[in-house]
Amino acid sequence: MSDSYTFDTRLLHNKHKIDPTTGGVSVPIQHASTFHQHSVDHFGKYDYSRSLNPTREALEEIIAELEGGTRGFAFSSGMAAISTAFLLFSQGDHIVVTEDVYGGSYRMVTQVLNRFGIEHTFVDMTDLDAVEKAIKHNTKLLYVETPSNPLLKVSDIQAISKIAKKHGVYTFVDNTFMTPYLQRPLELGADLVLHSATKFLSGHSDTVAGLAVVKNEDLGNKLYSLQNSFGAILGVQDAWLVMRGIKTLSVRMNQSQDSAVKIAHFLKNKPSIKNVYYPGLSEHPQYHVQRGQAEGPGAVLSFELENAEQLKRFIENLKLPVFAVSLGAVESIISYPAKMSHAAMPEDERKRRGISDGLLRLSVGLENAHDLIKDFEQAFLSVNKQSAYKEGIR
Ligand SMILES: Cc1ncc(COP(=O)(O)O)c(C=O)c1O
Repeated sequence: MSDSYTFDTRLLHNKHKIDPTTGGVSVPIQHASTFHQHSVDHFGKYDYSRSLNPTREALEEIIAELEGGTRGFAFSSGMAAISTAFLLFSQGDHIVVTEDVYGGSYRMVTQVLNRFGIEHTFVDMTDLDAVEKAIKHNTKLLYVETPSNPLLKVSDIQAISKIAKKHGVYTFVDNTFMTPYLQRPLELGADLVLHSATKFLSGHSDTVAGLAVVKNEDLGNKLYSLQNSFGAILGVQDAWLVMRGIKTLSVRMNQSQDSAVKIAHFLKNKPSIKNVYYPGLSEHPQYHVQRGQAEGPGAVLSFELENAEQLKRFIENLKLPVFAVSLGAVESIISYPAKMSHAAMPEDERKRRGISDGLLRLSVGLENAHDLIKDFEQAFLSVNKQSAYKEGIR
């Protein structure tokens, strides 16, 4: 498909727009696990669905094109994609990982890879000197998540990829929060992009899926071999749901992001909020890095209440967002990193990274921003009333 079309158009008009056999305007779901071979001497393109399936293949080609890569891979979850990518490394290798990485990736690195003799160093990747200093003779990977989860720190993908290239190591980027609509790491020098497609790409809180995209053929062949060996492939129904979600990615992202900007400004003027973390606020420490490498700040922000008690009352009074794990859906989702996404992180480690007991993460959905702000306002009022009452009876 021509690169001359804008991204929005390319979300819909790709080589899988029309099924060549029937003219159907939706990719057919091929449930077959195995495929009949017509000749002993010449096997067809498809033989067994773990190795290759036409429905999954369509999604893999679509995400590869959108990320500006050459080859895509679809996995049964974001963690399956991330874990399979980590299997590219071997005993004795060392990896450098962004400090406030997603809790599941933290668990994989600290509780699984370590058992296979793969060492790690966590680094605040907003500090490029620290990144370079962390590289050792056996380092093979710089693992970036930007904006990071849940503190929305922004790492400079281009600068980090440059450091990686200088030292002959790979750069992998978890692009879940941005999606290729807002940020394309391969164009900034990264080697591999990862997604929890459970989030914005599918977008409706009804699918668990993971994606990976590479540019380099050799890396693509290695990852294909691991996908086939480890076998954590995405099922065909889920592949179809992700493809359907991708068609509306830009309109969903635009609406959610516009609302996120309004909510971030509302929150930063609330005296009961200690901190608002959002790369769309000009006071965000990496505001300019974000503007330079992405086409927007995204639709996820975090904010900090005084303490866990206030947070509990706030959540109890909130009516619109669902209180749940996950993000990137049509409905707004508010989550509690200390007990949800980062529960796998030991408490002292979590607090050292700034993930306090008063921190909430908000993924802004498609509700009207005005309604969301009204809901937040009434929840804050209830918290303040209850606090005033408590003070009074002391
Ligand atoms: C940034 C990020 N990466 C990876 C994952 C893991 O994805 P999944 O839940 O699809 O396995 C998540 C899940 O929340 C995430 O937020």
